[in-house]
Amino acid sequence: MSSFEFNKVFAAILVAGLTAMLTGFIADVLVHPKDLKEDAVSIDGGAVDTGGPKVEKKAEPILHLIASADIARGEKLSKACAACHSFDNGGPNKVGPNLWNVYGVPKAHLGNFEYSSALANFGGQWTALDLNQFFWKPKKYVPGTKMNYNGIKDPEDRAAMIAWLRSLSSSPKPLPSAAAIAEEVALLAPPEEDAAENAIDAAADKAEHGGGH
Ligand code: HEC
Repeated sequence: MSSFEFNKVFAAILVAGLTAMLTGFIADVLVHPKDLKEDAVSIDGGAVDTGGPKVEKKAEPILHLIASADIARGEKLSKACAACHSFDNGGPNKVGPNLWNVYGVPKAHLGNFEYSSALANFGGQWTALDLNQFFWKPKKYVPGTKMNYNGIKDPEDRAAMIAWLRSLSSSPKPLPSAAAIAEEVALLAPPEEDAAENAIDAAADKAEHGGGH
């Protein structure tokens, strides 16, 4: 390569570089990029105001699954709780209270365990409905609880856990009634899902009965 040719190549690279810099500069002047104050999409998928109705995330309804849930699976899952809880009749309190006969009894059920005031004052019984919500996200359902546990995500796992806890009693309390199952769906199933389901039902109805005779 002659030195003249080399200079040409060098000049070409230089011009290309300058052009790129200059375009960047002009683009900046023209467009005025602004940093967003907040993320456009929030990481936890939570409260971005999209203008539509806000749907708060809730535990999936599971009461209908408890009667046929796999109790042995619940027992296996309880390994995740065993560092803090014993489950046998008369077992010791550890970091958390003994959990024999906890299904269907008042919350903070033991007199010899020091509960957080959050749980002690929460009120109500450990119905399957309340256990479902507690196990889904303990700290969301009982803000201020001292149970340091993230929760059980899988709906079938929660059903199995509750079915197992129910069995830990000398006389297990009744399974959720049909009314309780319906109540749970009304409370926890997102309304937009209901609406979609109703729309589908209505369409199916129309298709079935709408055809002329
Ligand atoms: C890191 C320790 C820890 C783990 C792990 C843990 N818990 Fe707990 N749990 C606690 C504590 C502490 C309390 C008492 C909470 C309070 O007083 O706010 C509690 C309370 C409870 C209660 C309410 C008992 C009552 O008498 O009202 C239930 C039910 C329960 N836990 C079930 C479970 C299950 C099921 C698991 C496993 C899936 C689990 N916990 C995992 C520490 C733990």
